[in-house]
Amino acid sequence: MHDAVSSFTAVSSDQGNLQMERVPLNDIANQFGTPCYVYSKAAISHNFLAYQSALADKAHLICYAVKANSNIAVLQTLAELGAGFDIVSIGELERVLRAGGDPSKVVFSGVAKSASEMQRALELGIHCFNVESEAELELLNNTAANCARVAAVSLRVNPDVDAQTHPYISTGLKENKFGIDIDRAPQVYQRAAQMSHIKVVGVDCHIGSQLVDTAPFVAALERLLALVDRLGELGITLDHIDIGGGLGVCYNNEQPPTPENYMAAVLPLLQGRSEMLVLEPGRSIVANAGVMLTQVQYLKSNGEKNFAIVDAAMNDMIRPALYQAWMDIQPVVRSDVPAAVYDVVGPVCETGDFLAKERSLSISTGATLCLFSAGAYGFVMSSNYNSRPRAAELMVDDDQVHVIRQRETIEDLFSGEQLLPSKAG
Ligand code: LLP
Repeated sequence: MHDAVSSFTAVSSDQGNLQMERVPLNDIANQFGTPCYVYSKAAISHNFLAYQSALADKAHLICYAVKANSNIAVLQTLAELGAGFDIVSIGELERVLRAGGDPSKVVFSGVAKSASEMQRALELGIHCFNVESEAELELLNNTAANCARVAAVSLRVNPDVDAQTHPYISTGLKENKFGIDIDRAPQVYQRAAQMSHIKVVGVDCHIGSQLVDTAPFVAALERLLALVDRLGELGITLDHIDIGGGLGVCYNNEQPPTPENYMAAVLPLLQGRSEMLVLEPGRSIVANAGVMLTQVQYLKSNGEKNFAIVDAAMNDMIRPALYQAWMDIQPVVRSDVPAAVYDVVGPVCETGDFLAKERSLSISTGATLCLFSAGAYGFVMSSNYNSRPRAAELMVDDDQVHVIRQRETIEDLFSGEQLLPSKAG
């Protein structure tokens, strides 16, 4: 199925034995243990460069959405290719800095930025704040005044476009908490333009994630451009138009547009316009550049159902439990045992703890499984639920494997916790 991935396959199959770049996934599991996340440096680079070449001569800034995968080695890989970054917290900004990213290419999104986060971002001189409410605009103006800076601002507007994706990852409808109502935006821009420590530089929207069609992007951009023209009439000119992230990937049999298809749909609308185009892609850069490896601990049957109980759980990868996400799962080594239909479940004490349901797999106890498309919203959403140490993260570069995050230890689990003072003595 993954041969259908439109752009680049991080994982290839050699007679049913899976490898990433030039390294067999089974060797990685044996050497580094499971569960672990494994990313391909070549695939991450390829996916970023696909955007860059699709944008060709159009002035642009590709701000990788750090939330999709924030490991500093992933950020470093992208920073070295000239990426900008879309952040939603000061933690993400500090990661970008540690990875060698350029703060002047950072856009700061999010509905609830605090004054201290604003201050740090102002000191570092980020490209702009994507402001999501009038209250935030007031706080930003005051914060900038207090530290004698001027904040570059892009208003995130809500274009009221249906992204036709899962309701939890749809953000561009009026009923969602995100952005400023596009019909009210001209008033808010006029207010912003009068503020002493605000410089209006752009407009921004992000309508949702895992979009598999260009039509909602085009509809949102048309609405943004109508707003930009209206602002022009009011004497407010913008330097950039940010159309957010959201391009989908192939998990199963979806056929999302490539960055090239996406830009072919969008760029004609920008013909003759001087504003720089800003993008905030996350998933489409990292999802199919990564996998999660997990080992079968037990096979169990209750008469009606077969379960493959593996050593990764919903705390390691929550997407199936949270979004009913379908992610492909296959053994890393081909086996001749007869296939059976399994639910692949983890050790966490919840019925929602599953990675995959009703999959035909040829496996025995001890087999290593590869969960595909796990490079985005995988490790970053993991937790220590059930006091499970978080998985290791590895990066494959040709025939080399680098540990980019050590597996957590039991000691790590309670570092920072404290016992109450003892009563005795
Ligand atoms: N920009 C903003 C303002 C965002 O909120 C997001 C994602 C992005 C860019 C990047 O979108 P992408 O290109 O990755 O679709 N955890 C969910 C996805 C949540 C997306 C949140 N916002 C999942 O696993 O499907």
